Amino acid sequence: MDEGTIRELREDDIRQIMDIEKESFSTPWTEAAFLAEIYKSYSLSRVLMIGSRLVGYLCVNLILDEGHILNLAVHPDFRRRGLATRLIHEAFAELKKKGCRFIYLEVRGSNTVAKEFYLQFGFSDAGLRKKYYTNPVEDAVLMMRHL
Ligand SMILES: CC(C)(COP(=O)(O)OP(=O)(O)OC[C@H]1O[C@@H](n2cnc3c(N)ncnc32)[C@H](O)[C@@H]1OP(=O)(O)O)[C@@H](O)C(=O)NCCC(=O)NCCS
Repeated sequence: MDEGTIRELREDDIRQIMDIEKESFSTPWTEAAFLAEIYKSYSLSRVLMIGSRLVGYLCVNLILDEGHILNLAVHPDFRRRGLATRLIHEAFAELKKKGCRFIYLEVRGSNTVAKEFYLQFGFSDAGLRKKYYTNPVEDAVLMMRHL
């Protein structure tokens, strides 16, 4: 199987991204939020393409030596094939080159799949952000790892 290629996020990707985003999150990002990532100098945003089909994406911000994973999703039909792992590995290698030393992220307390995913990458719980999410209101688990 074609395992796809990873490249930078472009404006014409956003339509395909929105389909995955809406299936993946109860409070999906807007198109404008993705557009903003493309033009932020401190954003590293990548998509994973299989042929012309966009099947996953990752948005990370890097400020000084601190990376913050803002968004990560893989199309439901393509999960559990190591694609998010590839997106993360490639992004981490690039972040490290740019001087990143710590990575943070927030995840819904009930999102056990994502928590499992990040735990196996060496992330650990670093705290709780009370009522961080809406629809439904829920605390975020803050996770962190050194790079
Ligand atoms: C979390 C997500 C990005 C993982 O994508 P993926 O491409 O399926 O992940 P991978 O195939 O690279 O999984 C790597 C490892 O993570 C863990 N993992 C992934 N999905 C899992 C699941 N459903 N249950 C338990 N562990 C899981 C496993 O350890 C897996 O390794 P294995 O398949 O060898 O057992 C995907 O499930 C997703 O898009 N979820 C909805 C959006 C979301 O919650 N994003 C994160 C918000 S911060």
